[in-house]
Amino acid sequence: MEILYSPFHFFIFITLLSTAAELSRSADMITLFQPVRDNETLVSAGAKFELGFFSAGNSSNRYVGIWFYNIPVKTVVWVANRDDPINGSSGVLRIGRGGNLVIVDGTGRAVWSTDTANVTSGTVAAQLLDSGNLVLTDESNNGSRNILWQSFDHPFDTLLAGMKLGWDLRIGLNRYLTSWRDSDDPSTGDITYKVELQGLPQKFLRRNASVIERSGPWDGIQFSGLPLSPNAIINPEFVTIAQEVYYSYQVINDSTITRAVLNHSGTLQRWLWNNNTQWTVIHELPNDSCDEYAKCGPNAVCRIGDAPICSCLTGYTPKSPQEWAMFVWSSGCVKKKPLNCPKEEGFVKLKGVKVPDMLSYWVNTSMSLDECRTKCLKNCTCTAYTNADIVGKGSGCLLWYGDLLDIRKLIQSSRSQNVFIRVMASDLGKTSEVQAGSGDNFELPTLDLEDITRATNSFSSLNKIGEGGSGSVYKGLTSDGIQIAVKRLSQNSRQGFDEFKNEVLLITRLQHRNLVKLLGCCINGEEKVLVYEYMPNGSLNSLIFGNREGNSLVWRQRFNIIVGVARGLLYLHRNSRLSIIHRDLKASNVLLDGEMNPKISDFGMARACRGDQLLEKTERVVGTYGYMSPEYAIDGIFSIKSDVFSFGILVLEIISGRRNREFHQHDHNFNLLGHAWKLWLQGKATELIDKQMEDSFPMSEVTRCIQIGLLCVQQSPEQRPTISSVLLMLESESTTLPQPKQPGFYTERFND
Ligand SMILES: *[C@@H]1O[C@H](CO)[C@@H](O)[C@H](O)[C@H]1NC(C)=O
Ligand SMILES: *[C@@H]1O[C@H](CO)[C@@H](O)[C@H](O)[C@H]1NC(C)=O
Ligand SMILES: *[C@@H]1O[C@H](CO)[C@@H](O)[C@H](O)[C@H]1NC(C)=O
Ligand SMILES: *[C@@H]1O[C@H](CO)[C@@H](O)[C@H](O)[C@H]1NC(C)=O
Ligand SMILES: *[C@@H]1O[C@H](CO)[C@@H](O)[C@H](O)[C@H]1NC(C)=O
Ligand SMILES: *[C@@H]1O[C@H](CO)[C@@H](O)[C@H](O)[C@H]1NC(C)=O
Ligand SMILES: *[C@@H]1O[C@H](CO)[C@@H](O)[C@H](O)[C@H]1NC(C)=O
Ligand SMILES: *[C@@H]1O[C@H](CO)[C@@H](O)[C@H](O)[C@H]1NC(C)=O
Ligand SMILES: *[C@@H]1O[C@H](CO)[C@@H](O)[C@H](O)[C@H]1NC(C)=O
Ligand SMILES: *[C@@H]1O[C@H](CO)[C@@H](O)[C@H](O)[C@H]1NC(C)=O
Ligand SMILES: *[C@@H]1O[C@H](CO)[C@@H](O)[C@H](O)[C@H]1NC(C)=O
Ligand SMILES: *[C@@H]1O[C@H](CO)[C@@H](O)[C@H](O)[C@H]1NC(C)=O
Repeated sequence: MEILYSPFHFFIFITLLSTAAELSRSADMITLFQPVRDNETLVSAGAKFELGFFSAGNSSNRYVGIWFYNIPVKTVVWVANRDDPINGSSGVLRIGRGGNLVIVDGTGRAVWSTDTANVTSGTVAAQLLDSGNLVLTDESNNGSRNILWQSFDHPFDTLLAGMKLGWDLRIGLNRYLTSWRDSDDPSTGDITYKVELQGLPQKFLRRNASVIERSGPWDGIQFSGLPLSPNAIINPEFVTIAQEVYYSYQVINDSTITRAVLNHSGTLQRWLWNNNTQWTVIHELPNDSCDEYAKCGPNAVCRIGDAPICSCLTGYTPKSPQEWAMFVWSSGCVKKKPLNCPKEEGFVKLKGVKVPDMLSYWVNTSMSLDECRTKCLKNCTCTAYTNADIVGKGSGCLLWYGDLLDIRKLIQSSRSQNVFIRVMASDLGKTSEVQAGSGDNFELPTLDLEDITRATNSFSSLNKIGEGGSGSVYKGLTSDGIQIAVKRLSQNSRQGFDEFKNEVLLITRLQHRNLVKLLGCCINGEEKVLVYEYMPNGSLNSLIFGNREGNSLVWRQRFNIIVGVARGLLYLHRNSRLSIIHRDLKASNVLLDGEMNPKISDFGMARACRGDQLLEKTERVVGTYGYMSPEYAIDGIFSIKSDVFSFGILVLEIISGRRNREFHQHDHNFNLLGHAWKLWLQGKATELIDKQMEDSFPMSEVTRCIQIGLLCVQQSPEQRPTISSVLLMLESESTTLPQPKQPGFYTERFND
């Protein structure tokens, strides 16, 4: 404590402070007999910090403060009597009654006191440490020291290395920063920076009560909104134990001089003393517009680099489209349609985001993510969930009720939280993972190859459920428990890639319960992958053909499949702006969901035409023999009527349980089509019916369907009904059906 009398320290003292008006005393301690007067200062033992009286601006007000000792720019880091200055130089800081530190003015009136100590015996002293902490201790007669009070427990506007921002829960102490009122006035300002404990701990930067910036909750590794970036200067830490919850940091190199300061303008700044010359700001919060609290309003995501930066969550739409168009986002987004709760819904994953604020939430730190999902699904007001803790495989459950506020896409997010947002089934598979510069043409979500690989066990052969010309199809299970079908296109297949693009562009715009839903796609180098909703009952192909003794579809199921496929086709042909011709309708492209509802799949060959252009000619005839209309197979002309032809074949196949192409009958050379036509002319159409079908069914309905099938496969496209008249015929028994004319392609056999 006598250290400043050494020649070395005296030298430092003289060279650094020779111009300063203050005269320093020679110790780092205040004792009962050694107060600090206005013309005196304390200097810490290692000459790092100094304590004394100072003025701010032009005012004659005097404050007791602590500042860096060894730098030429006076930088105050702590003030005792910020709201109770001394007028003039009469102030003294000393040990007062009961052992408290007090500041008294010329009249002996105490303007400020630590107000905590109550010591009746022993020796009380205050010491300024090299950390910048002023510590009041009570040394008892037996030599043990007891901390009565310390300045680090009562922060000002600056967080120094080793200080704690946050809670000592044992005594209910909350340490937080408060800004100066303005640059000349150290009195209590409007800006605060606090650790708050609602739900999971978060740091809040506020102006009075309103939030300027929010760190996001601690996820076990970092604050969700402030990913730890490799930092050459400080080591931050966050401690959450039963007794304490606090943020703190240490400098990596002891010779680094740095401080985090709450600026009265409303920012938190990290300053670095640079190369012995000046302070520079190396980081600031808010750092960008997306850091501003609730920038995009409820139920929206903020993304730097997007134009505009705000976009609604999947399933939500701007509350005020007019404001939204004017870049006023504060009213945020609302649900497009109410959820069909508890049926028909699921979750989409939002990756690498600052998780929503905990306005209305529920948390359990031991639940698994699956339990969390189940818990959220059970309550219709639950809107999202996530892991509370991402350490290891993740644990805990944090879920939200109602609006989701203040979500931002992180810029750097190597390890970050995924939030699962509740959506309607029809929105499943859309994610909010939109790429920068996205517009309307990015409706289809791009998925991570890594996720898909994981979901399919690395495209394991055990997961393979189908194989086609353009690639293989695998069954997969996503991390959020959704079954998917993954079509992996053959590599290096030029035709495959065209079909891939085609399918993506077309089907993205299509949504109908009788069309298979494309959930997303992924292009990664040579790897091209399409992800569909999974159809547990596989393709119609495997259900109607072959010997399925005791396992055959009943008539009601067959009829529903016929009607469903017709509805799907109608949607394609009568799509609002464009007519879409599938060009490859066949039994293997009709898939069945868990309730045997049919869904048309495989749009790789589909073509869109405007309504006035329903006939097209193509050089390259694609499709499947056996289902192709004559005008298409021979002349390359296709239209919606070529799909009707394929539909007719499909109807006859569904009724007979036999394939058109591989049809063999001992008494003739006809294909299934020719066979049906022959039986029809002989008035024996019912002989076509699948022998494996159960024995009771309405014969008139089946016969009607045979007649409809034959109408669809008539030779001339003009004679074939449109798919809307087909539906009418199927659904209304009272419609009289015309007599079918000769079908196309009833004798020919194709070899391909
Ligand atoms: C500070 O001022 C007081 C009078 O107000 C004087 O007694 C004391 O010696 C001064 N201290 C120093 C270090 O100059
Ligand atoms: C402080 O005083 C200087 C010179 O007297 C003057 O230029 C400046 O405006 C004053 N600042 C304030 C905040 O009053
Ligand atoms: C401070 O003291 C001076 C004279 O000692 C007086 O003129 C001035 O009004 C005082 N200011 C305050 C704020 O008390
Ligand atoms: C200090 O201790 C005395 C005697 O033990 C007691 O009367 C007084 O209330 C205490 N004051 C405070 C502020 O705790
Ligand atoms: C010293 O005395 C204090 C009470 O004044 C007591 O609490 C503490 O346990 C004692 N310490 C030792 C090492 O005896
Ligand atoms: C913050 O609160 C203070 C005191 O109530 C008030 O004077 C000030 O205007 C408020 N600031 C803002 C920005 O509302
Ligand atoms: C700490 O910084 C000083 C000054 O920049 C440098 O000389 C020293 O090598 C650094 N120490 C370490 C351990 O990096
Ligand atoms: C507040 O921030 C501004 C802008 O960075 C800076 O110029 C000013 O020095 C800061 N004030 C304090 C007290 O750090
Ligand atoms: C540090 O200061 C020295 C001398 O003023 C200068 O030569 C050097 O370039 C500075 N380094 C940095 C990183 O600013
Ligand atoms: C601050 O924002 C800039 C520009 O958006 C970005 O490059 C940088 O990574 C951000 N820094 C942090 C710590 O988030
Ligand atoms: C949290 O979840 C676990 C596992 O489901 C359960 O055992 C525990 O009771 C839950 N705790 C609370 C407070 O709900
Ligand atoms: C759903 O959660 C809300 C908010 O916690 C609660 O008020 C409501 O009772 C819950 N409903 C059910 C059915 O659990």
